[in-house]
Amino acid sequence: MPTRGLEDVIAAETAISDIDGNDGILWYVGYDIKDLAENCNFEETVYLLHRLELPSAQELDQVTAELAKERELDDFSTRLLPELAEFTSPMSMLRTAMSVGSAHDPDGWEPPENDEANLRKSIRLIARTPQIIGGFYRIRQGKDPLAPNPDLSHAANLLYQLSGEVPDEEDAKILDTCLVLHADHTMNASTFAARVTAATLADIHSAMTSAVAALKGPLHGGANEKVFNMLEQIGSLDKVEADIKARLDRKEKIMGFGHRVYKTEDPRATVLRDLARRLGEKRGESKWFEMSERVYEVVRDTKGLYPNVDFYAASVYHSLGIPTVLFTTIFAASRIAGWTAHAREQYQNNRLIRPESEYIGPPAREFVPLTERS
Ligand SMILES: CC(C)(COP(=O)(O)OP(=O)(O)OC[C@H]1O[C@@H](n2cnc3c(N)ncnc32)[C@H](O)[C@@H]1OP(=O)(O)O)[C@@H](O)C(=O)NCCC(=O)NCCS
Repeated sequence: MPTRGLEDVIAAETAISDIDGNDGILWYVGYDIKDLAENCNFEETVYLLHRLELPSAQELDQVTAELAKERELDDFSTRLLPELAEFTSPMSMLRTAMSVGSAHDPDGWEPPENDEANLRKSIRLIARTPQIIGGFYRIRQGKDPLAPNPDLSHAANLLYQLSGEVPDEEDAKILDTCLVLHADHTMNASTFAARVTAATLADIHSAMTSAVAALKGPLHGGANEKVFNMLEQIGSLDKVEADIKARLDRKEKIMGFGHRVYKTEDPRATVLRDLARRLGEKRGESKWFEMSERVYEVVRDTKGLYPNVDFYAASVYHSLGIPTVLFTTIFAASRIAGWTAHAREQYQNNRLIRPESEYIGPPAREFVPLTERS
């Protein structure tokens, strides 16, 4: 019998990240995500996922400078953004932009076996994603895209690209922590999609295009937008219990709950809950946090399900002033660190990923010519 949804199937060896689903622990290269969220920034995390060691102070300066230097978009991508802003959804835009980025990448024609070129391409892909998201959003608002600000951290520049204002230190730090938390997560659907594409020895931009496509769906990265839509539909704290119970009675899935691997609370949700509370208090708008807590209690008590990374991320992003339609692209802006690291790992020890299927159609039969078919 096939395993539906490949549950429990080990599809690859990796040195990048690991999960203990029973105890709710996530490690990047052996480091507990809670320690990384508290002590590391996104640039450090990029280095860790790609080099499999934490950087020294000098190495961190170097990767930070490389990421800042590579932010500028190429002309082709810049020219396409207005059209994408007019006709596509944010995640369709990002999927297209990943593919477009290969055209003018200086290493575009290097074969996937060239690991140094893959690393350079990875840094460019990670560095440019905030420019793509920000440019797209600003054009939609009738504004001009902004030049990257090389003095800002990756997270601060991402917020700056959206709002046009340099964020305060606390907001930038909170987004930075979100980026650390979302950067990798073993063999999730989008990472698997990236590795399947990389395993055919297609280039890394193709692998990233596959990854963004897989992240788009509401059962994966798209859940964070749906969480906030749900909170808005519910509207107020007093309506939470009845609304969530009615959804569950209708057999609807509550977005931001449940997980294939975690049988307890997702450790990223624990960190994000605290950030959502802090930001709600800071903005004087604790409503979304309070509603989220009530949703959590009702879903836990009724279904025994726990929140995943997308649940509290929704109110954190909202409190940071990020529009709901962009939530999944923010997830992508972080996960691209993990996707690119996994693609490089796949190229380094590659074997085509090609599972079997169990045929359930009719048995072999005689071909009937078109003129004899009724
Ligand atoms: C993440 C997810 C896709 C994992 O799915 P999975 O391992 O394939 O588990 P299933 O979808 O088969 O669910 C198993 C059971 O739990 C229930 N369940 C799982 N998640 C649920 C949710 N969020 N709300 C209500 N019920 C849920 C299913 O209905 C199913 O019940 P049944 O056995 O009575 O039919 C699933 O929990 C989900 O759809 N969550 C909501 C979307 C989400 O938040 N995605 C982001 C993941 S990080």
